[in-house]
Amino acid sequence: MLTREENEMLTRVGPGTPCGELMRRYWHPIAATVQLEDKPVRKVRILGEDLVLFRDRSGNLGLIGPRCPHRAMHMEFGVPEVAGLRCPYHGWLFDGTGRCLEQPLAPPDSTYKDRVRTPAYDVQEMGGLVWAYLGPKPVPLLPRMGLCEQDHGLQQIIGHVLPCNWLQVMENRGDQPHAIFLHGRLFQYTLERQGRLTDDSFARYNATMRQQQERLRRGAYPMVEIVYNKYGFTKGMRDSDGPEDVWQLGGPVFFPYLVYPNGGNSGSIRHDYQLGVPIDDTTTWHISYRTYTFPPDIEVPAQRRIPYVEVPIKDDRGEYILDYVLGQDMVAWYAQGEITDRTQEHLYDGDKVVIAYRKMLKEQIEIVQRGGDPMNVIRDPKENVPWTPTLEGWPPATIEAATRYSRTLRRGTTDYRFNFHKVSQGGWQYIEDDVDRYCPDRELILRLYEEADRVLQQQAQARA
Ligand code: FES
Ligand SMILES: [Fe+2]
Repeated sequence: MLTREENEMLTRVGPGTPCGELMRRYWHPIAATVQLEDKPVRKVRILGEDLVLFRDRSGNLGLIGPRCPHRAMHMEFGVPEVAGLRCPYHGWLFDGTGRCLEQPLAPPDSTYKDRVRTPAYDVQEMGGLVWAYLGPKPVPLLPRMGLCEQDHGLQQIIGHVLPCNWLQVMENRGDQPHAIFLHGRLFQYTLERQGRLTDDSFARYNATMRQQQERLRRGAYPMVEIVYNKYGFTKGMRDSDGPEDVWQLGGPVFFPYLVYPNGGNSGSIRHDYQLGVPIDDTTTWHISYRTYTFPPDIEVPAQRRIPYVEVPIKDDRGEYILDYVLGQDMVAWYAQGEITDRTQEHLYDGDKVVIAYRKMLKEQIEIVQRGGDPMNVIRDPKENVPWTPTLEGWPPATIEAATRYSRTLRRGTTDYRFNFHKVSQGGWQYIEDDVDRYCPDRELILRLYEEADRVLQQQAQARA
């Protein structure tokens, strides 16, 4: 439980707020690169600030204040020129640094333009996303992310705009036991209502509930643990009656809000980052950044651009879409309310990691208040190596067990996520289970999965 003041401090991201000041030490995704191909001048909102993002005709990006300093015309209607964005009202031209380059209706010898500026922020592109930095100078480096630099694979970006505060999204990252009910029982109930529930033992919702029944029968319960590292933390879950050093390790977190759900499982074709980007206090842009990396012998068409799709949270009838894993996570976030009232909550042992994340957030806010750099602010190019998850801090036996699990998956026989291309007993493809079903290149991914299957089988036969 938090006090009202603590809840405010940890959630609000506007300028001048404690968490807003922390967030302004980081780079944030503000758009997908392809969105600028469709429309080179866009209104964007980040950390409670309205801005205008543009790409001029020379390919330069700019992120500037929304209103023209002349007489407040909104710059989302601006015209991109060879250099900069032109206000459509009287033609003042601004570049990405905020300088006014032209005031074409003023006398040619006027120097007034040199005394006019518009607010401007740094932007960079990485992995099909445009990232912005709104904080104090000097501007830190944009941290390199392993999946954004992946080759021999496909990248896909799926976005959802959620009507809730970013911290609700982030708290879910530490909450592993939720999968039992949210991706088990709710999943079953949703499919039951659709008339699609089957007894398919391979399906995640059935397997999860079966495990839980088994736990209850033994009188066991899930235990959670957190291990901090340089970038954030990893968390583990194990059954209370299981061996003490064997934990199922969950997705590593890169502070402040990126999680890598199957990070560390090097055998998987499918990887993803999930980012809960604070648009403002009550809106979060959730990005599911997916990569599919196939065995080297499989021919993967080169991607000219990384596609992006924005998926609604409701269907055409206005009903929330709950029949896939991320859809279930998302309802748990926004159904807590816009900013959940943490003075009313009742935490238990299973919330240990949620509490630990709040503590970490508070500590980082305090570092900024004391004038320091919080974690993951990188300034030395030598340190900016692509982030890959670390299991650092866990006992060696735990790491060994987790690696063994990853090797099992590499054979592709135990995890339904290796079987997206296959049809379940209910007659639908496993790709329907999660947000992968919205991938713009879904058909291609399914075909490549089939080919991967064929190659893996041939390899197995050759070994036998
Ligand atoms: S309002 Fe922009 S140039 Fe006049
Ligand atoms: Fe979940």
